[in-house]
Amino acid sequence: MTQDELKQAVARAAIEYVVDGEIIGVGTGSTANFFIDELAKIKQRIRGAVASSEATAARLRGHGIAVFDLNDVPSIAVYVDGADEITAAGAMIKGGGAALTREKIVASVSGQFVCIADGSKLVETLGQFPLPVEVLPMARSAVSRQLAQLGGEPRLRLKAGSSEPFITDNGGMIVDVLGLAITDPVALERSINQIVGVIAVGLFASRGADVCLLGTAEGVRTLT
Ligand code: A5P
Repeated sequence: MTQDELKQAVARAAIEYVVDGEIIGVGTGSTANFFIDELAKIKQRIRGAVASSEATAARLRGHGIAVFDLNDVPSIAVYVDGADEITAAGAMIKGGGAALTREKIVASVSGQFVCIADGSKLVETLGQFPLPVEVLPMARSAVSRQLAQLGGEPRLRLKAGSSEPFITDNGGMIVDVLGLAITDPVALERSINQIVGVIAVGLFASRGADVCLLGTAEGVRTLT
């Protein structure tokens, strides 16, 4: 099976977790895109969705799925999203697609976080994938110095094929931190959250995934 077929398989499996008559939280990325396409097939069963990025909102609307502003939605039953890395305990690195802050916000008001990923995303220790940190532009250097003190190698994310910084949906910038072996994800998430100028860190540990659907050649594995 190709990686896309594995992503499609978990996206299809995640439909089982959709609660009828509810508003669904929807993540960002290639796996989340496959989920949106599956959700479109059952759109008459749901009220709509809250999107974790402008790209996701556009794809949902393109399928005729109503997109709600989170301010008008007090709680969400289920949030479905991909991950860049996930441990068997459900701690994740996210933000490869730069949507980490909105993903974290939508996840924080959701009853159940269903992570969908191809099997290559499962790791024993987080940190092989550079850890994305969204920062206020004026604080990018100050925050980067503090991230270096934590043992990582911070790199400002640039627009593809350009020397200009990448700008998020929120007007923030992304510092990717390389070289971290994250043995205590909850503690590191807390430390980075305390750095002034950080908008959000792409470590989802204190609030990780409740269920992970992993696409493997043998079929979809469910980790809880
Ligand atoms: C977006 O900001 C990310 O958190 C994505 O959810 C994550 O990068 C997974 O993306 P893919 O499904 O494209 O691998």
